[in-house]
Amino acid sequence: MGDLNKQQIEEKIEKMFQLKQKALEGGGKERIEAQHKKGKLTARERIDLLLDPGSFYEIDMLVHHHSHDFGLDKSVFFGDGVVTGYGTIEGRKVFVFSQDFTVLGGSLAAEHGRKICKIMDMAMKVGCPVIGLNDSGGARVQEGVISLGAYADIFLRNTLASGVIPQISVIMGPCAGGAVYSPAITDFIIMVEKTSYMFVTGPKVVKTVLHEEYTSEELGGAGVHASKSGVAHFTAKNDYEALQLVRKLLSYIPLNNSEDPPYLPNDDPLDREDEELNYIVPANPNQPYDMKEIIRRIADNGEFLEVHKDWAPNIIVGFIRLGGYSVGVVANQPAVLAGVLDINSSRKGARFVRFCDAFNIPLLVFEDVPGFMPGADQEWGGIITNGAKLLYAFCEATVPRITVITRKAYGGAYDVMNSKHIRGDFNFAWPTAELAVMGPKGAVEIIFKKEIESAPDPEKKEEELITLFNKKFANPYIAASYGYIDDVIEPKKTRKILINAFKLLESKVDTNPPKKHGNIPL
Ligand code: HXC
Repeated sequence: MGDLNKQQIEEKIEKMFQLKQKALEGGGKERIEAQHKKGKLTARERIDLLLDPGSFYEIDMLVHHHSHDFGLDKSVFFGDGVVTGYGTIEGRKVFVFSQDFTVLGGSLAAEHGRKICKIMDMAMKVGCPVIGLNDSGGARVQEGVISLGAYADIFLRNTLASGVIPQISVIMGPCAGGAVYSPAITDFIIMVEKTSYMFVTGPKVVKTVLHEEYTSEELGGAGVHASKSGVAHFTAKNDYEALQLVRKLLSYIPLNNSEDPPYLPNDDPLDREDEELNYIVPANPNQPYDMKEIIRRIADNGEFLEVHKDWAPNIIVGFIRLGGYSVGVVANQPAVLAGVLDINSSRKGARFVRFCDAFNIPLLVFEDVPGFMPGADQEWGGIITNGAKLLYAFCEATVPRITVITRKAYGGAYDVMNSKHIRGDFNFAWPTAELAVMGPKGAVEIIFKKEIESAPDPEKKEEELITLFNKKFANPYIAASYGYIDDVIEPKKTRKILINAFKLLESKVDTNPPKKHGNIPL
């Protein structure tokens, strides 16, 4: 009797293993081979590379669809085209879903969507990030409107989770139609070069409707979204690189909005001085220089994880560590369009500032900005509304905020770039800083118009007045005399001063008035 019981139990356990083995086989050997041939890894291989070894625990492995329409009852696969579960990255817990293109093209329908929603709900309760590995043919055609509903269930959760837990989307295959809107709501999008694409309507529809011909890569490949549209924050050469990037990105980010970002001490001395910084800003105010060099020289071990590297490069955003603490950097880039603020750079800066503020990441601004971009294109494109986004984002941010003005702080851009007037905690200026309503030429032409016109040699007169104006205004000392900047500092000491100031601000408490939500000029 005892032996029979044991045998029955062993059979049941064996059955469990058989079912799970079937789930592990995904869409079968041939489809896995086809996936590999495209240079793509499978859903499970990706999870293995993303998470700490052996840390993945799969949930809903035995879920399958219950549809009978259009022959779907003959294509039933465990997992329903998505692998979901939790695990750790550097020992920190995360939830992950990984769409399995080998099962019904990774298409999303009722059960597939329900699985994703389940882990999103858990992640919200537990307070940890959701990482989505996207590789899907989109809404499962056979399940019709049920698939659309399943997408909407995810969109809602993406939105409610925004600002509570970090959400990272990796695009590792097709992502088309309304499916693009889930990644779009998440905090970061990483696209794999050559094997991924995102568009609302694909090349076929574009050809039919607009008579324009594009390949998928031209219309919505990684390169396009990283440089033209700004939809992608990062690109990666292959699946492996994309997944390693997720790990790195997470090292700067807390698990949820009630935690601080991870503290990762390193051996870069807190009081390290850098003599080169004293000479990095050219004497000629119109000569460009690379702000990224300043960022790297100040950051721990010269490490800078740049976000949106190829989009709107006249502003730089990304993460560094200072004394082991994570800091979000926003910097004008004098090497591109003189660092001017335009529509895209304002949007780029604003979104990054809001991410950092939502997740308790202090902000550091390096400022060298000649103002907002003039021109009909910019005006008609809405530089007013878009520039206001950056202003609004800084105004509402309550995290520790420090600005270092390296050179120009002109016009409205002076106010916008984290000035003290909008709650910047510390504003430091290098001796090379120039704070003024506008550049000397423009200023002189306005305030001395009559004198210049009536002078015997107008050009010479203008030159004289520019020199005079520069002497008076092209420095940080008038602003310092009003306390608009807290200190003029020697550039080589910037790292130490910043580390001390951020340390002081560690216990900063600031709040905004209670409200349902503000009305950022979207
Ligand atoms: C059901 C799908 C599917 C889908 C792919 N498959 N997409 N099944 N619904 N949406 C299945 C295929 O039938 C095939 O099954 C397998 O997945 C692999 O597809 P292939 O076409 O063989 O692969 P490939 O040549 O690599 O082409 C991939 C593809 C193509 C470009 C994604 O499959 C495609 O165009 N699919 C349709 C995309 C689409 O229009 N989706 C709807 C978008 S609108 P077998 O059994 O042969 O392996 C949308 C709306 C969302 O998503 C709205 C949210 C609000």
